[in-house]
Amino acid sequence: MTISAQAKTVAERIRAAQRAAALSGAGMSVESGLPTFRSGSRALWRNHDPMTLATPEAFGRDPALVWEWYRERLRAHGAAQPNPGHVALAELERRVPSFTLITQNVDGLHLRAGSHDVIELHGDVRTSRCVRCGERVPTPIDGKTPPRCACGGVLRPNVVWFGEALPAGAYERAYEAAAASEVFIVAGTSAIVFPAAGLVEVARQAGSFVVEVNPDETPATSRCDLSVRAPSGEFLPLVVEQL
Ligand code: OAD
Repeated sequence: MTISAQAKTVAERIRAAQRAAALSGAGMSVESGLPTFRSGSRALWRNHDPMTLATPEAFGRDPALVWEWYRERLRAHGAAQPNPGHVALAELERRVPSFTLITQNVDGLHLRAGSHDVIELHGDVRTSRCVRCGERVPTPIDGKTPPRCACGGVLRPNVVWFGEALPAGAYERAYEAAAASEVFIVAGTSAIVFPAAGLVEVARQAGSFVVEVNPDETPATSRCDLSVRAPSGEFLPLVVEQL
């Protein structure tokens, strides 16, 4: 099947759906110029050891190092623009009666593209929280490292690190959206980090039409009804065009 025939198939399913959902990952933002974690030469976890940057223990050992890295990423997010894939998903939210976007991304690009019903499963870098009093504040992009809360406690990025729980209620809402969906789009994720990756199976078991959009095969590929080997920034706009 050609890419445009695949887009037509997905558009037909979406037109008929009352409820749809999507799970996105770092590949969604590649066409915005941001690196993924595991694919390509700029992959973050190829060039950095996550155990020194993305665990509570790493933060305890060297908060300044962790902060430098997150501030660098926050600057990169700020310089990036949502790409046509983000914009297409925002458009799907407008066209489908219920459309929930579950993202593992912390870059905020879905929100900037105009999506509203967004579950940020792994948190976000725009905000920080105090390790002492729990207060949340916009992440100070400059200034002392590590930044501090008004109470004097150290601030940390409001992201989920390895070994940590997801934000309260986020997985439950994501599970409900996946289980209720009639179409489930899996875009730009290697589908190896759980529990996020498990949502593909939740949708499948619920009888949803599961579509993967990824230039490469992943462990989720065999669980999908349709696998589209294309970048999300190219394929998702084609779906919107066919609606
Ligand atoms: P990964 O880096 O693991 O996977 C990115 C996926 O995007 C790969 O399967 C690529 O083939 C695909 N890809 C690359 N370019 C693409 C494009 N233009 N369009 C569509 N897909 C493309 O990123 P995630 O799956 O998001 O967790 O990683 C999951 C989690 O692992 C992240 O949220 C992060 C990381 O550790 C935390 O930080 C908690």
